[in-house]
Amino acid sequence: MCGIFAYTGKNGKDAGGVLLDGLLSLEYRGYDSAGIYTPESGSIKTPGAVAELRKKMPASFTGKSGIAHLRWATHGEPTEKNAHPHASGDGEIWVVHNGIIENFKELKAKLVVQGHTFLSDSDTEVLPHLVEEHLKKTKDFEKAALMALNEVRGTYGIALQYKGEPDKIIAARMGSPIVLGLGDGEHFIASDPSPILPHTKKVVFLEDGEVAIITPDGHSITKLDATKVNRIATEIDWNAEEAQKGGYEHFMLKEIMEGPDVIENTLRGRLIAEKGMVKLGGLESVATELAQIERIIIVACGSAHIAGLIGEYMLEEFAGIPVEVEHASEFRYRSPVLNQRTALIAISQSGETLDTLEAVREGKRRGALTLGIVNAVGSTIARETDAGVYNHAGPEVSVASTKALISELAALVLLTIFLGRQRLPGQGGMSEKTAKEIALALKELPNKVQHILDTKQKIEKIAKKYAGVRDFIFIGRKYNYPVAFEGALKLKEISYIHAEGYGAGEMKHGPIAMIDEHFPTFAIVPQDSVYEKNVSNIHEIKARKGPVIALATEGDTEIGKLVNDVLFVPSTLEMLAPILNIVPLQLFAYYFAKEKGLNVDRPRNLAKSVTVE
Ligand code: AGP
Repeated sequence: MCGIFAYTGKNGKDAGGVLLDGLLSLEYRGYDSAGIYTPESGSIKTPGAVAELRKKMPASFTGKSGIAHLRWATHGEPTEKNAHPHASGDGEIWVVHNGIIENFKELKAKLVVQGHTFLSDSDTEVLPHLVEEHLKKTKDFEKAALMALNEVRGTYGIALQYKGEPDKIIAARMGSPIVLGLGDGEHFIASDPSPILPHTKKVVFLEDGEVAIITPDGHSITKLDATKVNRIATEIDWNAEEAQKGGYEHFMLKEIMEGPDVIENTLRGRLIAEKGMVKLGGLESVATELAQIERIIIVACGSAHIAGLIGEYMLEEFAGIPVEVEHASEFRYRSPVLNQRTALIAISQSGETLDTLEAVREGKRRGALTLGIVNAVGSTIARETDAGVYNHAGPEVSVASTKALISELAALVLLTIFLGRQRLPGQGGMSEKTAKEIALALKELPNKVQHILDTKQKIEKIAKKYAGVRDFIFIGRKYNYPVAFEGALKLKEISYIHAEGYGAGEMKHGPIAMIDEHFPTFAIVPQDSVYEKNVSNIHEIKARKGPVIALATEGDTEIGKLVNDVLFVPSTLEMLAPILNIVPLQLFAYYFAKEKGLNVDRPRNLAKSVTVE
């Protein structure tokens, strides 16, 4: 997620220094380039860290106001020309932006016809040109900004500055957070309170569809239609680190709570639900080859590998393509048989996991078409695969992967519809009717995930109840068989206890020997095509005095009579159920480890990105 910071003041502070220090407190968000602009000294931008930006700033760089940015690339590689701030053609209007402008291509085409030229591949660059175009007619910066924003579709958190009115900065929010800092003789705009707190704790959070104007002496807020908004300022008592976590105690909890937005951002601009179609721009260049592939191999590690296992069920059932899922660390050393009709799909949040990267290279050596499902734009795996789909989940700070996995599953559903619709229903492909059914159910997921998140206190209570155990087994079937693995992985990697994921049908082939009153089972038992089978497995466990927590479908009035504790999730299509079922398991692991007083965000022995063998 990009980070923006803007300042205007009359207290003699050097805007360059204020903005640079502010960027440092936004670094936790993850970024690949940085930039700054003041009306007095112009702009400086650089790929890489804030330290690089500081090195490039001449001692003479100064200003009483300015805007600054940390970029998490979505459109266009992380280069100097794609870094923010971006300017209008006449160099008068400057902008920093967090979000995605969905209709930037049509806006850009219109502006080109009007004589505008563009320097970057970034979607953001259309904004200052659009304001410039309106400013020519209105001669009023505030009106021009409102008119431009009313043409934009997508998400934004922006700060806009006009050289002709240097002490005024305009902010706007649609989908990406914006907070105003209200100081004495100085005002601020930021993506979160962390860069503001050293100056003032008095803030105002903008809502979607609101536009704010700050000057050294004050601020005002309107809606996009210019109607006034009166918003009471709040005094926040967070410290900078708490601000970076959005007020949550850990990044892991913050990132789990981002689940609904993450699904929306993964689907944004890609799902044409009413037609049962999917638009994946990153696959357009290989669409013809994809229509011909006869086999898919998915390579990944950890949670990404588990996403692949769920993707296997989706792709085989709804796209009719044989799929194998391999641990990248195994695939790269065995002698796999691939050919031009094989697609190798690498799933990776960081895009830098060495085992997965080497598996991609092995796949290319053996002639496969290689695709990436990657969160980090411009990462090595994203660059070395032939094509791919970016998650747009924003940076994931906590070592335990949570929101990235949810996004990977949503991306795999999109890919399943994309590939399924390329094939005839009679040949395993997907009918328009089925695609529409899946698409509509997919659109309901953000609200259903939010519904689960609203029950987090109950999940915390159950996690605390079991926090003293040394062993756990998670069981599931079909689409929830890999979910069992993820529940176990989340728990073991942040609480350090022994936890296993197993197919429920496999219990009688060995694991049930471990069960006694000290060895609990987490049974994922939604009301689906294998519900009765799962209930039988639970009976077998209860017969051996094993405690059982059930993850069940809301409205199931029977399961509670059989087990020790129940967590409920809303119903959805069987293939989408993992996206819902994984959320309570992530929260369970989080509260379990927190109860044990462990370092949830930085578990021992683990790294966020495993770039070694
Ligand atoms: C998951 O919680 C772990 N942090 C780990 O297994 C992770 O999923 C794995 O290292 C893969 O990382 P990647 O998605 O960045 O490739």
